[in-house]
Amino acid sequence: MAELGNNERRMLRAMLSNPESTWSLNELLEACEWTDQAHVAGAGLALNEAGMVEIQEITKRLITLGEEGRKALNEGLLESRLFTWIQNQPDEQRLISTMSQTFEKSESGPGVGLLKRIGVTLERGAFVLPENISEIETILESRTNFIQSIGENGIEEDELDAEMVDSFRSRKSIIETSETITRTWKLSNKGHNVNPESLTEKTQIVDLTPEMLQGDDWRDAEFKRYDVNLPAPTPAGGRPHPMQSLIQRIRSIFLEMGFTEIEGDFVRTAGWNMDSLFIPQTHPARAMQDTFYLEDPEKLPIEEHWLDLWAGVHENGGGTGSTGWGGHFDREEAKKGLLRTHTTVNTVKHLADQPNEACRVFGIGRVFRQEAIDKSHLPEFHQIEGIIHEPEASLPMLVTTLKTFYAKMGYPDVRVRPAYFPYTEPSLEIEVKWRGIWLELGGAGIFRPEVTEPLGTEWPVCAWGMGLERLAMLVLGMDDIRELYQPDLLKLRSMPII
Ligand code: PHE
Repeated sequence: MAELGNNERRMLRAMLSNPESTWSLNELLEACEWTDQAHVAGAGLALNEAGMVEIQEITKRLITLGEEGRKALNEGLLESRLFTWIQNQPDEQRLISTMSQTFEKSESGPGVGLLKRIGVTLERGAFVLPENISEIETILESRTNFIQSIGENGIEEDELDAEMVDSFRSRKSIIETSETITRTWKLSNKGHNVNPESLTEKTQIVDLTPEMLQGDDWRDAEFKRYDVNLPAPTPAGGRPHPMQSLIQRIRSIFLEMGFTEIEGDFVRTAGWNMDSLFIPQTHPARAMQDTFYLEDPEKLPIEEHWLDLWAGVHENGGGTGSTGWGGHFDREEAKKGLLRTHTTVNTVKHLADQPNEACRVFGIGRVFRQEAIDKSHLPEFHQIEGIIHEPEASLPMLVTTLKTFYAKMGYPDVRVRPAYFPYTEPSLEIEVKWRGIWLELGGAGIFRPEVTEPLGTEWPVCAWGMGLERLAMLVLGMDDIRELYQPDLLKLRSMPII
């Protein structure tokens, strides 16, 4: 009987003392010397799952008095009180109007209907009783008896007159119905055949403690099996916001892959955010309705030599062999202050600061775009950005890096598709398979010469930028991005641990 716990053994042994019996809860509590009915329920279920005990459930409907019902029990039913009142009035005072002065409106209103239905008639606003009132009295008496039989404690529905139950159920808050389930336990054939001798209770170890391991007692003890499927209370302590946990996890994955973390300011120039990345000055995404430009400071300084280099590349390709975008490069446009629209500004600045050092860097940061808020857009969100700058940097290396990252995140199915960004060639879109569909999670590519030549970098640069919120929606299984940032503690608490 190794698989049975002590409670199961005790309950089975008790039942074997009278093997033919059908046991009630109280009988089992007494026989097992338990006070907590959860023991019977738990052990009974385990024995049932082991095929040794049959459980029978009987559902009973209990009728109790509602608020009006309790009033009826104490003061009499409304129809009885009204009827008594009519009888006590002199003939000429048996009027609806007089009744309305004596009784609350909530009683006199429905009261008239009740009286009519038991045989009281109305003539020009006056109540008229029939010749023989014994019929009315019989009805009232049986109704009163009904209410009294329910009493303070309620009664099983089976014991009441069904028609009466129906008619009172249609009246407001006189009676209420609740269901209770009563269980009984009985040995099955398999249970019958268990030898009670085998059912001795043993010391079972639930938690193994360091102290225990210092001695030898645990060697002969029995270990209680741990069932991870049993329902358990959820501890409601503090926990980091799911987004913070996710950022932490992403950070540790990139660190583990040998990357170094970089950071950067939210406020940048259009020059570093866009021109350095060969985004044409006429690009629609640069417009006011897409980008948050600053009023103060409206412009920020940029070293002239950068402006010279970008002007050359944008106007005619500079020394890169490209023809550039043509037209006139507006240096004042490049100085405009803005809230960064992507974290690619961080990686490009990192390259500009140390163009001759090989690096693998990443950053997780907030970006800003003028988006209308809906279930998949926010004006403020995060990107996971990174570059590999080294002699052997290549497209396969880029794809492998991204696949490795997503595999470590728990998404082994990743594919890349051709895409377009002004600053990479080739350019890719990264897609991850989730519940059978491919979701686009980011962009990547090899920086174009128009980007790298002015920076003076030595080697090819693999670059990528991925959406954090999109990924969070997958990890946390939500379809509305706004849920991430609403202060709904109940919801946040119930989000998966990352
Ligand atoms: N910056 C791009 C975006 O915001 C992503 C990207 C980064 C694409 C680096 C290519 C290279 O969507």
